[in-house]
Amino acid sequence: MKDAIDIAVVTGGGHGIGRALCRRLHRDGTKVVVADLDAAAAGVVAAEIDGVAMALDVADEQAIRELVDEVERELGPIDLFVSNAGVAFGDGPSGATSAKGGLNPADDRWEACWRVNVMAHVFAARALVPRMLERGGGRIVNVASAAGLLSQIGDAAYSTTKHAAVGFAESLAIDYGDRGIQVSVVCPQAVATRMIGIEDDADSMDGGFGGNDVDGIMSADDVADIIVAGALDGRFLILTHPEVATYVQRKASDHDRWIGGMQRFREKLKT
Ligand SMILES: NC(=O)c1ccc[n+]([C@@H]2O[C@H](COP(=O)([O-])OP(=O)(O)OC[C@H]3O[C@@H](n4cnc5c(N)ncnc54)[C@H](O)[C@@H]3O)[C@@H](O)[C@H]2O)c1
Repeated sequence: MKDAIDIAVVTGGGHGIGRALCRRLHRDGTKVVVADLDAAAAGVVAAEIDGVAMALDVADEQAIRELVDEVERELGPIDLFVSNAGVAFGDGPSGATSAKGGLNPADDRWEACWRVNVMAHVFAARALVPRMLERGGGRIVNVASAAGLLSQIGDAAYSTTKHAAVGFAESLAIDYGDRGIQVSVVCPQAVATRMIGIEDDADSMDGGFGGNDVDGIMSADDVADIIVAGALDGRFLILTHPEVATYVQRKASDHDRWIGGMQRFREKLKT
């Protein structure tokens, strides 16, 4: 695999972590395709970084295939594909078994989380891995969450699908990591973005919900730097908040005890 990242695609590049990744990659000399459901936001970011904006719904496999085709035809081989777009809705008042509540009807929330947080990664890999294998390698970075290793209190669909995203990245790395495809999975805790109620370019990083700000909220710029460094370093698991490694060890050493601790934490958050 070549070292330089000449061409990259970042999904969800119009806002938050994706936007910061686009900017960071541009500073490193990469031509960046900013792909987002929010085409206007993608356009603003692309204009700023001399990139290419593309409207994309990552839940649509055909659309991902067409994007990969078009980028490789017009710009050249994709060296790095970052599946960063993600959604979260919250459980609503009745908790993990909620049938309604939150921002959308429950089944729609589960379906959206499944398609955007998991299947989009599968769709991108289906489109890219054969091409990358043929040319001797490439980098795939999938943005999951610390909720994919631990749990997001108050969001069962998010926690479940982020676990699935980590599982899919593991499968990809196991199947193709020794054939030139560098797979990374990113598992952040709180990052100051619209996902946790903080607008892009907000003056303050106050926000956070469900205890996800327990170890502090990081800026999207700092997170993007860690992601790019981790990917260039060839790391599979990229942790932006180092505390997560300790929590994962505690969970693995005594799962029942960990559940008890999370129950107490949930109670504390209510007060
Ligand atoms: N912010 C956090 O605290 C945090 C923590 C852990 C993981 N993450 C993950 O980081 C990733 C980026 O989230 P963020 O925090 O920057 O949030 P964000 O809401 O600021 O950005 C998400 C971006 O994804 C785009 N998007 C949503 N659905 C899409 C779709 N179907 N197709 C294409 N684009 C779509 C949105 O338009 C937006 O630009 C997500 O996968 C999220 O789960 C965020």
